[in-house]
Amino acid sequence: KMTVKDIDLKDKKVLVRVDFNVPLKDGVIGDDTRIKAALPTINYVIDNGGKAILFSHLGRVKTEEDKAGKSLAPVAKRLGELLGKEVTFVPETRGADLESAINNMKDGDVVVFENTRFEDIDGKKESGNDAELGKYWASLGDVFVNDAFGTAHRAHASNVGIASTGIPTVAGFLMEKEIKFIGEAVEEPKRPMIAILGGAKVSDKIGVIKNLIPKADKILIGGGMTYTFNKAKGMEIGNSLVEADKVELAKELIEAAGDKLVLPVDSITAAEFSNDVPTEEHAGDVPEGQMGLDIGPESIALFAETLKGAKTVVWNGPMGVFEMSNFARGTIGVCEAIANLEDATTIIGGGDSAAAAEQLGFADKFTHISTGGGASLELLEGKELPGLAAINDK
Ligand code: 3PG
Repeated sequence: KMTVKDIDLKDKKVLVRVDFNVPLKDGVIGDDTRIKAALPTINYVIDNGGKAILFSHLGRVKTEEDKAGKSLAPVAKRLGELLGKEVTFVPETRGADLESAINNMKDGDVVVFENTRFEDIDGKKESGNDAELGKYWASLGDVFVNDAFGTAHRAHASNVGIASTGIPTVAGFLMEKEIKFIGEAVEEPKRPMIAILGGAKVSDKIGVIKNLIPKADKILIGGGMTYTFNKAKGMEIGNSLVEADKVELAKELIEAAGDKLVLPVDSITAAEFSNDVPTEEHAGDVPEGQMGLDIGPESIALFAETLKGAKTVVWNGPMGVFEMSNFARGTIGVCEAIANLEDATTIIGGGDSAAAAEQLGFADKFTHISTGGGASLELLEGKELPGLAAINDK
């Protein structure tokens, strides 16, 4: 696979698709991880004499009103601070102003143009991968660098569309790093390889569990989806979250996984989904009127014991409602067990678990925290990512 290192950048107009889909509230960026993660590629382009033309989607845009609060302007400003150099923001996704801004660029300059999904209000041109739009954006540059790992599970005009015009297309460093860590962990892991899967719903993780049953040495299950599995085992689950239509499937997964699947043995429960009511601890069954909101101490000990000696750990989905302090201990316990491993490659597959590790103060204990949510999940499911496939074609 070709990367930005394999092409000549000098004097070139370099189109760089990044994933700057960051949390924005009232113009304030809640988390700039994704901007920081794109810096190696951006710096490499400008240090090698390229003109960096950056673009991304931000949020989902269907109507003119949806555009409010979704401009990339604050992101361009933050990028300028991080790069320590001037970044020109063009509040357009096409047209004369954008073209002249690009034509005026000198080697090493950086331009960011407006949210690619602003092209969605008039017929979903961006997310529908409109061929004309992909062609137009490709015409603005000489080469295309796709560094938007977080968007690689989408086939949109700004990634797949541009690449399929035939413009020289390569991967950026973030894309390369994400694929290397997650891909190797799943396809050629140092063993034992242990997957830890949590989150509310079995339905979100079916594909991952199925793909990992033959590949992992153990699969630890936590989070709300525990109770669909427990129900499948004939246990009492009280008022815990359950996907009634997934109980049969949970049975099949339990059967297919055999002793690879490790389920929690106790729960922290409460009468309400709240941090302000008393909690109870229950081994096995959850009684009527209570709902399981975290794994209990015996489960934490069991998971820590199972993780001992692991050489590869892939984690996706919190063990409990970690946002509430009463139900954070399971997720903290798993973070601690992972932090104590020696010589292990430890990977968080993005989304909620990345947020949990950040919030609980364990972010620097992992080998790799993915910037992708949906993209890393699809990679763990063994699916081909269209954004990546489009690069491989070149
Ligand atoms: C993400 O945050 O998962 C990516 O940026 C993709 O965003 P999307 O789900 O709106 O396509």
